[in-house]
Amino acid sequence: VFTKDLLTNPACRDVTDVKHEVVAAASSSSASRAQEFLKDVGAPSSAKAYGSYAELVADPNIDVIYVATPHSHHFQNTMLCLLAGKNVLCEKAFTVNASQAKKLVETAKAKKLFLMEAVWTRYFPLSIKIRELVKSGAIGVVHRVTADLSIPSAAEDGSITFDDSHRMVNPDLAGGALLDLGIYSLTWVFQILYHCQSGPASSREIPKILAAIQKYDKTGADEMTSVLLQWPGQKSMGFATTSLRVATTPDGEGSPAAGPACRIQGTKGEIQVIGPLYRPEHYKVIKIGGKKGEVEDVYCEIPKDMEKDGGKGWGHGMFWEADEVARCLRDGKKESDGLSWEESVVIMETMDEVRRQGGLKYPELIETDIFDAKSSLNIGRA
Ligand SMILES: NC(=O)c1ccc[n+]([C@@H]2O[C@H](COP(=O)([O-])OP(=O)(O)OC[C@H]3O[C@@H](n4cnc5c(N)ncnc54)[C@H](OP(=O)(O)O)[C@@H]3O)[C@@H](O)[C@H]2O)c1
Repeated sequence: VFTKDLLTNPACRDVTDVKHEVVAAASSSSASRAQEFLKDVGAPSSAKAYGSYAELVADPNIDVIYVATPHSHHFQNTMLCLLAGKNVLCEKAFTVNASQAKKLVETAKAKKLFLMEAVWTRYFPLSIKIRELVKSGAIGVVHRVTADLSIPSAAEDGSITFDDSHRMVNPDLAGGALLDLGIYSLTWVFQILYHCQSGPASSREIPKILAAIQKYDKTGADEMTSVLLQWPGQKSMGFATTSLRVATTPDGEGSPAAGPACRIQGTKGEIQVIGPLYRPEHYKVIKIGGKKGEVEDVYCEIPKDMEKDGGKGWGHGMFWEADEVARCLRDGKKESDGLSWEESVVIMETMDEVRRQGGLKYPELIETDIFDAKSSLNIGRA
């Protein structure tokens, strides 16, 4: 999905200052799998297909690598790239724990490389507009943010429809709702109550955490997690929830029928974001003291390149984060203002604390913060 977004014409989203080129892809299983991938996404025939991650990171023609392996692999795979001198955009959740995230940041800093966690939602024009609205005081002082991303995957017999080996529920792959979906609920709470705090980033208040985790009895991964965050200095609270058993939008993505997936509540009014929270296209502004029932609806649809996908058009919304990466590289920036290294680390620390309170641990192979180029996570499944 990301690579197909890279291959769209930036002009379809009114972008003219940067563009992207897909020069290579790697599979840890085989070069033919990488070749098949490049063909499926419609990459240019000049793009190289590698049968190992080690070969990819050694390619001198690559400016930046997008790491899209399961989160269990992010620390080892991203470190492999950084140590080979490559800039990296790494999928969410950034790592399994904060200690790994800190090591990646230290390495990027020491080697003067660009590094960013790929939380695509942060770069949606919708998210940027909402952050600007909050900072401008449009809804007054924000005292509470609630955010939910829940995708129903429960069968009638109580089991979850993912196979036990699937990365959504497999502890060996850092599976579970928190790291996969809850990261988006936390993103909404953090991009308002943390990111929008006034003053320098170094002075930002870090929240206190109270969390509950419900584990999936078949694998031990978390199937439902709720996190209460408190910023006493700002007199504000966040409530981030996620579940594999119930739905945020039961009647389908983007439907407002179930109400907002995120409520940003201030002293002068509130902003409501219609789910799903990873890919929202619609928000509402409701003012306190306004006319009863008066709502400002704002739609920010994701544009498509109509020349792709045989005339059906393609565009998923991941191109905006790619544009941010390109601009940072062009301008010599090592981290993105939309999601700084420090903020990614604070969010990982939050998830560490949630897992500590809920008693959720992953195997040492994926929790370690010691890099090993020969780790099975870098070599592949063979
Ligand atoms: N931003 C978003 O909207 C979004 C959406 C979905 C997922 N994600 C994130 O993207 C990452 C990948 O998710 P995904 O659903 O694409 O994962 P996936 O299909 O399960 O795995 C992606 C690739 O990782 C490689 N891999 C290496 N070792 C593996 C192992 N032991 N088990 C499974 N795969 C292994 C495989 O490629 P080779 O074997 O060819 O090397 C596989 O094709 C996750 O961190 C997820 O949170 C983000």
